[in-house]
Amino acid sequence: MSDITIKIKDREGEIHEVLAPTDMAMNLMEVCKAYELPVEGTCGGMAMCASCQCYVLSDHQLPEMGQDEDLMLAEAFYVEDNSRLGCQIPITPELDGLEVELAPES
Ligand code: FES
Repeated sequence: MSDITIKIKDREGEIHEVLAPTDMAMNLMEVCKAYELPVEGTCGGMAMCASCQCYVLSDHQLPEMGQDEDLMLAEAFYVEDNSRLGCQIPITPELDGLEVELAPES
């Protein structure tokens, strides 16, 4: 069993419950794209565009923010205390049940 369940609320408020593999080195941005959720991922996951910004709604322990992510979020729009860049969140078994909401497009 290497899939976890993630709930992703889109910008219309609709919640998508998706299965994400933990053994394919995917990140949250890639999972969103795989399910055709409206996440651009313009920079390809380099923490350089913020198009994958999401708000973390559940209280999961996420990997600490790296400097690139921190700097990008300092420049991005609609940033909240619970903002993270989806591309900087690797899919791991610990994230089972994670709930996130897509940030507005900037
Ligand atoms: S895909 Fe560009 S910052 Fe995440």
